[in-house]
Amino acid sequence: MGLFQIKPDIHYGANSLDILRIMEIEKVFLVTDENMVKLKVVNRITNILKSRGIDAKIYSDVKPDPTDEEIIKGMLELSAYDPDCIIALGGGSPIDACKSMIYFTNKIKKAMGEYKKPKFIAVPTTSGTGSEVTSYAVVTTQSKKIPLSDSEMLPDIAILNPEFIKTLPPSIIADTGMDVLTHAIEAYVSRSRNLFTNTLAIGAIKTVFADLVSNFENPELERERIDLQIASCMAGVAFSNAGLGINHSIAHSLGARFHKPHGRLNAIIMPKVIEFNAQNKNAARYYREIAEALGFAPKEDAEGVQILAKAIKMRAAKMSIPGSLRELGIPEDQYFSEMESVIDQIENDMCTGENPRRFSRIEMKQLLTDLY
Ligand SMILES: NC(=O)c1ccc[n+]([C@@H]2O[C@H](COP(=O)([O-])OP(=O)(O)OC[C@H]3O[C@@H](n4cnc5c(N)ncnc54)[C@H](O)[C@@H]3O)[C@@H](O)[C@H]2O)c1
Ligand SMILES: [Fe+2]
Repeated sequence: MGLFQIKPDIHYGANSLDILRIMEIEKVFLVTDENMVKLKVVNRITNILKSRGIDAKIYSDVKPDPTDEEIIKGMLELSAYDPDCIIALGGGSPIDACKSMIYFTNKIKKAMGEYKKPKFIAVPTTSGTGSEVTSYAVVTTQSKKIPLSDSEMLPDIAILNPEFIKTLPPSIIADTGMDVLTHAIEAYVSRSRNLFTNTLAIGAIKTVFADLVSNFENPELERERIDLQIASCMAGVAFSNAGLGINHSIAHSLGARFHKPHGRLNAIIMPKVIEFNAQNKNAARYYREIAEALGFAPKEDAEGVQILAKAIKMRAAKMSIPGSLRELGIPEDQYFSEMESVIDQIENDMCTGENPRRFSRIEMKQLLTDLY
């Protein structure tokens, strides 16, 4: 049985925060990070709540790649506060931290028979993880990144407001934009792909190719910024339904160990993963279709694969993203000495199941060596 879920209502554009002026809510728990507080981005929301006399409590102790400790601390505050609405504001890290708090708190409350689900609103400030429309959250524990998946974590409302991404510096625009591209390409070649997800994925891929480098070079460009925010969301809907692949499994394992930005890791890994997966005939055809959708005219699948991999490399280089894990600054000794455990994590990551190509440990070892 096929299932295509498009749950959150998506409010977008300049007036999208107006939904907060009319919703019936009384007590809001808001999860964000210190940057959003310092940049006063959070005030755009709290000012509206204040003007309505709605109580709000802010939890901002979330760092990039949220840890189990940050989540447990947040859960204690969330439970004690007992809100009727939860708002996650930030990049993937605060949104995922908030989702994880909801996931674990719900499990405990359900077991105790006290279940009352607050409204959940996600407001992304990067373009981005698409976390505002996915049922996934990624939690980091010591040297592991663990993806969780549960429809309980799907927000009820996503708010895409272009003002919230105005303060993004170029390097984060580059990293998070390449994350969008990875989501869309992995969804397009995944084992659970379908016409719904393919259409959204291709739309997101075309937008990233058309607008990301210009947005990196000139963050003031409004049309590009708005379109990338929507592309991020479309890629999120696509991969929430179709799944991802080993690009993300590798990025999860390396991100947890070496603490490098998620999107940057994805960008560096992507061209070689595309060549690796193209050993699967279907995947090679799908990569060629992507190249064709981007306006290239390959004569055969193998040429389409090469064109796509090269086009991605060129865009990454234009945005000063390094071309290898060595250039990214991952220490050689640790990388090679921990490789067996990296491969264990890649094999066990939930994203691996949707990857188009099956592989042996030796093949994965070769890919990881090539990536360095
Ligand atoms: N849930 C999912 O479906 C999903 C998908 C992909 C990645 N992820 C996870 O999301 C996390 C990465 O999220 P991310 O890439 O959005 O970055 P992030 O949330 O980690 O933020 C990166 C940095 O950008 C800053 N920032 C965010 N918005 C800003 C703005 N508008 N202006 C200025 N600075 C801003 C943050 O404060 C932070 O310092 C990783 O942990 C990754 O594993 C989740
Ligand atoms: Fe991602």
